[in-house]
Formats: sequence, structure tokens, C-alpha cells
Amino acid sequence: MSSKEQINMNALPSHIAIIMDGNGRWAKEKGRLRVFGHQNGVKAVRDTVEAAAELGIQHLTLYAFSTENWNRPKFEVSALMELLVATISKETKTLMENNIRLNAIGDLSQLPKSCYDELQVAMEKTKGNSRMTLHLALSYSARWELTNAAKLIATKVKDNLLAIEDINENVIADCLTTKGFPDPELLIRTSGEYRISNFLLWQIAYAELYFTDKLWPDFRSTDLYDAIVDFQNRERRFGMTSEQVSV
Ligand code: IPE
Ligand code: IPE
Ligand code: MG
Repeated sequence: MSSKEQINMNALPSHIAIIMDGNGRWAKEKGRLRVFGHQNGVKAVRDTVEAAAELGIQHLTLYAFSTENWNRPKFEVSALMELLVATISKETKTLMENNIRLNAIGDLSQLPKSCYDELQVAMEKTKGNSRMTLHLALSYSARWELTNAAKLIATKVKDNLLAIEDINENVIADCLTTKGFPDPELLIRTSGEYRISNFLLWQIAYAELYFTDKLWPDFRSTDLYDAIVDFQNRERRFGMTSEQVSV
């Protein structure tokens, strides 16, 4: 039985997040420049987005560029930004055909104007789409997001719009870029690295983590199905005992 057939369609995670890693190593293995890996990563994105939407996943978040990635060589950063602009503009049509909404999270003010503008156009065009929301984490880091949330809350308290006693988990969640979206239940990281790299630290408090050695450009729908099947075989206890959650 293929992994797709093993998926329980009644127990799908509503939100899957992916740390797409390994583009550089994939290119290096082939004796090519790192940028070649990023270019080929686009195919994996296309395949994964299509597969997730087809299954009925409501939210897919892809970590495409971290705030720390700005420290990479200038040439690589520019190439990634150009690739992003070209891909977003090219793929908007497919997003429309597949009824997928595009959303971006992160410190978007840091993006080059062409990239920012292209994103705004695509988000505006796709905002009525309802089958799945594709969240692109761009110039994103969880520490940036949490620092920003602290500033927003402090300002509300200072302006007497919020009492300190009323600060709770919901208030904090509402100050994050993921406001209004469910937390990811499944977090996938490719390329055999076992770390989170500043991604969605608040939101993954209870996510199931899935690591694969596949390098991102080689990731395909079947890898997504494998991860979902693995997820569905886990017992999610949320601090309780096995007996409590299995009744
Ligand atoms: C992931 O692949 C893409 C981005 C972080 C933009 P990498 O570029 O990190 O590839 P490796 O990890 O160096 O192989
Ligand atoms: C994490 O990958 C960021 C993205 C996938 C966009 P990195 O390759 O930047 O992470 P580290 O540096 O290995 O932790
Ligand atoms: Mg990497």
C-alpha cells in the first residue's frame, strides 16, 4: 500500500509547517553553485503545495528565508530574492486555478521593493481563495516575531488599552504574525538537520516534529505523505497520560 493510501483522511493535520533545507548541499553534490539548488527547490515547493492542497490541508507554512539568512553572501541573497519575485509572479496563476490563498509572514519591510510589491499583488489577487492558505515565511524569525509582540503589548498597556492582568496566551498569540491561524500540528525539516533555526517557536509548542534526510530539491508529494502517515501514528498527549487520551 502506498503511503498516500495509508493516510487517514479524517485525521489530517490542519496546518503543516516545513523548514525547507538542503538546497546548497544538493547543488554541491552535483558540482553546481548553491543557487542551482535554490532554483531546483522551486519544483519541490510546487509539488508539495499541490499535494497538500489536494489532500485537504488547510494551512501550509514554508520557511523560505530567515532573518539570519540576510547574513549570507550578497550574491546568494540577491539570487534568492530574484528567484522569489520570479516564482511568485509565475505561480500566481496556478494558485488561482487551485483556489490557494497566499500569505506572507515575517519582517517584510526588509525585503527589496520589487519582492515586496510582487508579494502584495499576489496576496491581494488570491485573498478570496479558500481551499488552502500557503504561508511563506520570509525574512522571518521567531525571536523577531516575539520581540515585536512584546512591543505591541507594551504599547497597549502604556496607552491603557490593555491591563497587565489581562495578558494571557491568547493576547500573545494575537500579536504574532500567525494571528487567526491554527498552530502547526506537524513540523517537517529536510536535509538531516535536527534543529528549529528560529522558526515558529511559540506556535510549535505541541507540534509533532518529523525529520528526513532528503535534501529539499528532492522532496516530493510521497515524502509529504510519509510524514503525514508518521504523524498519524503518534500519540499526542498534551501533558496527559496515555490512558486519558486514548479513551
Ligand atoms: C535552504 O537550503 C534554503 C534557504 C535557507 C534559503 P540551504 O541554502 O540552507 O542549503 P544548505 O543547508 O546549505 O545545504
Ligand atoms: C533555515 O535553514 C531557514 C530556512 C529554511 C529558510 P538554514 O539553512 O538557514 O538554517 P541553519 O543555518 O542550518 O540553522
Ligand atoms: Mg541550510
